[in-house]
Amino acid sequence: MRFFVAGGAGYVGSHFVNLASELGHKCYVYDNLSLGHRESIPKQCELIVGDILDCDKLTNLLKHIKPDAVLHYAAYALVGESVSQPSRYYKINVEGTRCLLDAVVRQQSMPSFIFSSSCAIFGSPENLPVDESSPKRPNSPYGFTKLVCEHMIEDFCRAHGLKASALRYFNAAGAAINGKIGEKHSPETHLIPNLIRATLEGEGVSIFGKDYDTRDGTCIRDYIHVTDLAHAHLLAAEYLKTQSPGHFEPFNLGSGDGYTNLEVNQEVQRALNKSVDIKFEPRRAGDATALYANPSKAKSLLSFQTKYSDLPTIVKTASAWHKGGETFPAS
Ligand code: UFG
Repeated sequence: MRFFVAGGAGYVGSHFVNLASELGHKCYVYDNLSLGHRESIPKQCELIVGDILDCDKLTNLLKHIKPDAVLHYAAYALVGESVSQPSRYYKINVEGTRCLLDAVVRQQSMPSFIFSSSCAIFGSPENLPVDESSPKRPNSPYGFTKLVCEHMIEDFCRAHGLKASALRYFNAAGAAINGKIGEKHSPETHLIPNLIRATLEGEGVSIFGKDYDTRDGTCIRDYIHVTDLAHAHLLAAEYLKTQSPGHFEPFNLGSGDGYTNLEVNQEVQRALNKSVDIKFEPRRAGDATALYANPSKAKSLLSFQTKYSDLPTIVKTASAWHKGGETFPAS
């Protein structure tokens, strides 16, 4: 298939383009490289440097490339930052998605559309695990922007006969099995890379909140390996091929298991055979207490099976990447 991948130089997007290229698909990456990395894109891919708010450029590129599917990863994705800087989230996430959708529906042969959504749309759910129909009550601007985008995409499907899917990632984590690419954010705010770096460098690490209503007082998250997420996008693209115009389908993508922040820390200490000093800090604004998925819809409609999303594999691949791109398992 031919894929146009907006934000394909970022963490999740680059794992998709590497996997899809290995499997013989053609990927065109569109990225402004503000957060993405040129070196994360394989040689077989074409990189077009551009902005997600440049609707005319997007329209012309799609006309020229004629992709089968457009994948949209180009967004800001930090819960805490979205609380202090909401404007950039509404501008890039919401307005950027509208621009890309406009470009898509202007095409004579309309590609399908696959959107990187997030479990942040659910806020702090009362009932766990979270399935697709769980109430959507985001508790951060980031979560709101993803929810607004889902509604907007569904409206475009209805109005223009677009076929689309929203893939709601739980916590994307881990690194490529071949050790070539991994999580590279600056600044890094995510739990697993922060724990690994602090442990390897002998520094302390902050854990935000120890008074949540969970088994050890710290937040619970569902970690899904980034390569499993990449596979899910290929499955969603195949699935949309068989659907009628106007079809919109959301999927929750998680492993189905929830781990507290302290349990994740234990796994990191086990993998690195080293301990780390933990400093408990106040709760971080926008954080949900507990989030883990009911992944059965993706299993039944997409035949989605996770392969690398057990916590030890996630931590081992992430650690190998942080140590300098060792392959996993280390040979
Ligand atoms: N945490 C710490 N210390 C750190 C980093 C994180 O205690 O140094 C805690 C957070 O407070 C939270 C948990 O670890 O309780 C997970 O935090 P992350 O920052 O790793 O991930 P988030 O759950 O905040 O956010 C991620 C993605 C979002 C996505 C969300 C869904 O960044 O895009 O998962 O839960 F929407």
